[in-house]
Amino acid sequence: MNLEKLLSVADFEQQARSVLPRAVFGYVNGGTEDCLTLDANRAAFRSVQFRPRGLVGVAERSQEVELWGRRYRHPFGIAPMGVTAMCRHRCEWDLAKAATDAAIPFILSGLSTLPMEQVRGAAPDFWYQGYIPGDREVIRPLMERLQANGVDVLVVTIDTPLGANRENNQRNGFTIPFKFSSGLLWDGVRHPSWSMNVFARTLLTDRQIPRFCNVLADHQGFRITEEPQGGFRHGRDKLDWTHLAWMRDVWRGRIVLKGVAHPADARRAEHMGLDGVIVSNHGGRQLDGAQASLDALPAVVAAVSPTFPVLIDGGFRRGTDILKAIALGARMVFLGRSVLYGAAVAGEAGVSRVIDILSTEIDRNLGLLGCCDVKNLDKEYVVHQPMI
Ligand SMILES: Cc1cc2nc3c(=O)[nH]c(=O)nc-3n(C[C@H](O)[C@H](O)[C@H](O)COP(=O)(O)O)c2cc1C
Repeated sequence: MNLEKLLSVADFEQQARSVLPRAVFGYVNGGTEDCLTLDANRAAFRSVQFRPRGLVGVAERSQEVELWGRRYRHPFGIAPMGVTAMCRHRCEWDLAKAATDAAIPFILSGLSTLPMEQVRGAAPDFWYQGYIPGDREVIRPLMERLQANGVDVLVVTIDTPLGANRENNQRNGFTIPFKFSSGLLWDGVRHPSWSMNVFARTLLTDRQIPRFCNVLADHQGFRITEEPQGGFRHGRDKLDWTHLAWMRDVWRGRIVLKGVAHPADARRAEHMGLDGVIVSNHGGRQLDGAQASLDALPAVVAAVSPTFPVLIDGGFRRGTDILKAIALGARMVFLGRSVLYGAAVAGEAGVSRVIDILSTEIDRNLGLLGCCDVKNLDKEYVVHQPMI
């Protein structure tokens, strides 16, 4: 397919809807319960509007950002997403490679199926996101495996102590652990290219059902169709601040909390010596009714020191969305579904095309905003008011 004909993330979403089986698209696209937070994430962008400056001279523009001494070409990266193998064979490779080529960060989900030892080949500096159980004896060997793989940035997701109520998945028969059913098989039959390129290719090339091989220290992990001993989310509900304080002592690299919504949690993270927070509600996939990420951002930024990195994700589909978050104090934005649609449509080339669309939108709109450098964006460039 000619990717140049897809002009926006919305075009990719539409295309992904047609190539993916309904149950898989629902897993990617859906939220929880009444999807209040899923919708709020997008709606929040409407009530932040730009106040562009004129006559500035914007011939030279930069969207580079620096984080912990590293330079990234664009002010966005790829958020961790689990079970992406449902969308594309070796999907994590495509996401990681496209991110590396674009010089942006890639966060590998703990619920991924390509061994991190291989992911390194595509993204030597990948960040790792863990669903960490509250058990030091389990965390310690995981940290050793991460260190052996050169991981510096450990992202701890804190908005998922329990599984959420994703009714759309239940209606579509999509479960983790994955279970085959006649409905899903029929869904596959109606999407032959997915059945060939994802389902058949996975079984024929890899000769095995994908395994969650990056959850903990055990390289083997467990099949995506299997309930591991002790349960899929064993011990996550026991994780608390005492574990983070201990991890801070033990882990030599960076620790970032993902899923921060309350300013007090961000302040506590900074005081504990953690390295940053990601303001996030898991893309509306956990607590329904949680505040939109963009709306939660200003209070979090105000609660921490100006140098403490506040990152954000949730609902970003346009370059202008990213510029609004940067103006409100985010250092960097992370993309979830936007890039996953790209991978579902055309693998690495699709992800690169989405990155290209968004960075072009940022470049153009930065100029239209009368600003030469994303580093100079601040709240003077935006105003909060409902858009009619
Ligand atoms: C299919 C899918 C799987 C996800 N899996 C994870 C995960 O394994 N770990 C995690 O911390 N967040 C996960 N997330 C949440 C994302 O990291 C991110 O917070 C969210 O997608 C941002 O919203 P957006 O999709 O609107 O950009 C997942 C999101 C999606 C869409």
